Amino acid sequence: MEETWQVSFESIISQIIDRGYGIIDGFLSEEEITQLNKSLTDHYQAQEFKQAGISKNQDIVKSIRGDEIMWLERNNANTIETEFLNRLEEFMSYVNYTCFLGLRSYEIHYASYPVGTFYKRHLDKFRNDSGRKLSFICYINQQWEPENGGELVLYLPDKDEVVLPLGGRLVVFESDKIEHEVLPANRERRSLTGWLRNID
Ligand code: OGA
Ligand code: MN
Repeated sequence: MEETWQVSFESIISQIIDRGYGIIDGFLSEEEITQLNKSLTDHYQAQEFKQAGISKNQDIVKSIRGDEIMWLERNNANTIETEFLNRLEEFMSYVNYTCFLGLRSYEIHYASYPVGTFYKRHLDKFRNDSGRKLSFICYINQQWEPENGGELVLYLPDKDEVVLPLGGRLVVFESDKIEHEVLPANRERRSLTGWLRNID
């Protein structure tokens, strides 16, 4: 029997091949969303988050980017974080098996956008580091409503794709091709965000 995650991997990969990005819902169960939210809150309260920076120097420029982040490492991950990293690695193997992107490593952080913060239009690629091949964002927001805002906008050649940050939704796109933006929200906006790389 095929696992449900395998079916969703196939779907997201064929979307990426067709149009450079993919979106699937239900990548995480409600229980997993609850657990990851709790972990984020614990890390936040333990002051493990820091203001995110931009470009290679990681300068803090709140008029461009206002989120706070915490990098996730396998060696200090808790049970639910380890499960998430396992699923991510399965996804990476699946991409390698089907797409020949030669993915070798990944980097991932929790992100929390306080009310009213945003990330202006940008590309997820540093000028002197071309290792990032695929960007992925998995939202862990419970009961997110359209009036909460906080949309991710993907700027495509023929249209703007506007994506609500619904809990359990996974968005993957080619890091060096698709410019995107995070719009402000009227409540805190949470995700796990990272990059699959073809160099270590
Ligand atoms: C990023 C980013 C998008 C989102 O962290 O580089 O573009 O929807 N995030 O959170
Ligand atoms: Mn980005």
